[in-house]
Amino acid sequence: MKKIAILISGSGSNAQAIIKACNSNIIAGKVIIVISNNPNAYGLIRAAKLGIETKIINHNNFNSRSEYEDVLENFLISLKPDLIVLAGFMRVLGDKIINKFSNKMINLHPSLLPLYPGLNTHSKAIANNDSKHGISIHFVSSNLDAGPLIAQGVIQINNNEKIEKLIERIHKIEHLLLPEIVNELCANNISLVGDNVKFNNIDVKQNKFIIRNYEI
Ligand code: GAR
Repeated sequence: MKKIAILISGSGSNAQAIIKACNSNIIAGKVIIVISNNPNAYGLIRAAKLGIETKIINHNNFNSRSEYEDVLENFLISLKPDLIVLAGFMRVLGDKIINKFSNKMINLHPSLLPLYPGLNTHSKAIANNDSKHGISIHFVSSNLDAGPLIAQGVIQINNNEKIEKLIERIHKIEHLLLPEIVNELCANNISLVGDNVKFNNIDVKQNKFIIRNYEI
């Protein structure tokens, strides 16, 4: 059974979706821990309610970013995870920890990368009158929100759509696509070879990554 560690900073609804998918055998893996840099993250409560071990490593308790990341890295090493999922983890990580786990660390980002790395992706999509918005799942590299793409989930932006509604729809597709991709990773159907994502038993056509269009 593949061991999954999840890093969060806030609500943790995506961590919960992964845990529930593991618990119902939709994912052939086990969440061994949910780690938060934010001691008040609601996701810690969600995880504990589902019987998952939690750990707070609060970046504010360290003198420097590298000190914090060394502790996080050593803790992760001690767990021997097969997969590390950044699911609403709102810290930018440095090269050392990323290189340590580069072929087993994935990130969920709420935009159709390379559009809108960083914050406020939903308001940017609305402000730019985009017809589409969505989510990206990628291996983590040292460039912010720019590692090799594994999958994107796409929705249409409705006329005059309010940001709250758009965020709600984005969450719905995150909760579908992220568990699906975590399962494929646990089944060894997706892997990182050099800088390229390799897919087994998955049809990715010429896009080179998985694209799912949702009507939600
Ligand atoms: C998700 O929408 C995720 O895509 C986003 O934070 C939210 C976390 O929700 N991540 C980022 O913005 C990372 N750059 P959750 O805590 O309910 O899973």
